[in-house]
Amino acid sequence: MKTSHAGVALTALFSTAAIAQENCGLVGYDTGANPAILVYTDATLGTLEACGDLCSTTETCLSFGFSTEQCLLYNVTVTDNVNLMESPYTFYDLTCLAAGGATNRIRRVIKFFF
Ligand SMILES: *[C@@H]1O[C@H](CO)[C@@H](O)[C@H](O)[C@H]1NC(C)=O
Repeated sequence: MKTSHAGVALTALFSTAAIAQENCGLVGYDTGANPAILVYTDATLGTLEACGDLCSTTETCLSFGFSTEQCLLYNVTVTDNVNLMESPYTFYDLTCLAAGGATNRIRRVIKFFF
């Protein structure tokens, strides 16, 4: 009985982790394979809120990256599009903003454990 409960819990954890393939707040540079579809060089857009707003109102935008001076919009998600390294840019999938607080908390917990 104990084993089966643990199995169910693990399955639930793994399936949630598989769904939550979003990347929120990765620091690096895009790989160059999928260049930004739009580049805004404007310090007022170099924030999570402003750049995220632009992405959410741009039809083909799936992710975005920003520095203190730029907002970059991408038509691909962050997965496989960002090389993690020291950089002024931080990248987010658009879904990071759409997801509710509770979901994000669960995702953070899962990331912590895996
Ligand atoms: C992203 O945009 C570029 C440039 O318009 C286009 O060539 C490419 O096919 C698009 N990729 C996707 C996944 O929509």
